[in-house]
Amino acid sequence: MNIVKTVAEVREQVKKWKSEGLSVGLVPTMGYLHDGHASLMDASKRDNDRTVVSIFVNPMQFGPTEDLDSYPRDLEHDSKIAEEHGADLIFNPEPEEMYHDNFSSFVDMTVLTEELCGLSRPVHFRGVCTVVTKLFNIVQPDRAYFGKKDAQQLAVIRHMVDDLNMDIEIIGCPIVREADGLAKSSRNTYLNAEERKAALILSQAAALGSKLVQNGETDCTVILNAMKEKIQTEPLARIDYVKIVDAATMQQITVVDRPALCAMAVYIGKTRLIDNFFTEDIGNGGAA
Ligand code: PAF
Repeated sequence: MNIVKTVAEVREQVKKWKSEGLSVGLVPTMGYLHDGHASLMDASKRDNDRTVVSIFVNPMQFGPTEDLDSYPRDLEHDSKIAEEHGADLIFNPEPEEMYHDNFSSFVDMTVLTEELCGLSRPVHFRGVCTVVTKLFNIVQPDRAYFGKKDAQQLAVIRHMVDDLNMDIEIIGCPIVREADGLAKSSRNTYLNAEERKAALILSQAAALGSKLVQNGETDCTVILNAMKEKIQTEPLARIDYVKIVDAATMQQITVVDRPALCAMAVYIGKTRLIDNFFTEDIGNGGAA
């Protein structure tokens, strides 16, 4: 497996593969790879002849007070995992390779980005849409793989691909969890032992909400109140949001009468964690 740093090197390799008639899958990541990323690579390997993994901590999607500098980075660890999961190429650019000095073009989106994480992280989705567009243009994959843990991101990218006629199939993959239920995340490394235990409150609240929906509850206030009460039993937890939205538009709903996403962001100490369930996934293994 090759690790390259420049756009030109990726282009050259992908051009060669395409000239041989090979299909290409892209797994965009910010590195510090875990089993969640591994499941995306496995899915790409299953669907495509070649898999490119991008590892780039994208400064543009972090707000000024967020964790850009402390975000965990370990290329050696990442290349081992990528190799084990059949990746053929890692694209690991420096920020200057992605954003030259007079960089001034952005991909932005209204509506879908104005709820949930978009409210607490105002610059986030502009950064995500811009970097993902660049990665799509650089790699020109047939398919790209994203985790359902970042449910709003997945919806935003699907919408962007549709709006801008990008000829790429977007595949959403189920949340991968630790044995005790905590959703895998590179940010879990920020948690100390006490916080790690407290963080279970997210998956427990998601499981509670999911159970209520499964048992026929459709009133969003009832579901959300039960989940919030559960989260508030944990002294280290501070709710950013717990909401139910239309799964396609990301707009809040009051009744679960269509495919919906129940999403939360909760601070455990200083660490902001997210979790969710899609009502469509309840009962088929993709839920909380
Ligand atoms: O989900 C992530 O890791 C990032 O938001 C992504 C899609 C790689 C863009 O930087």
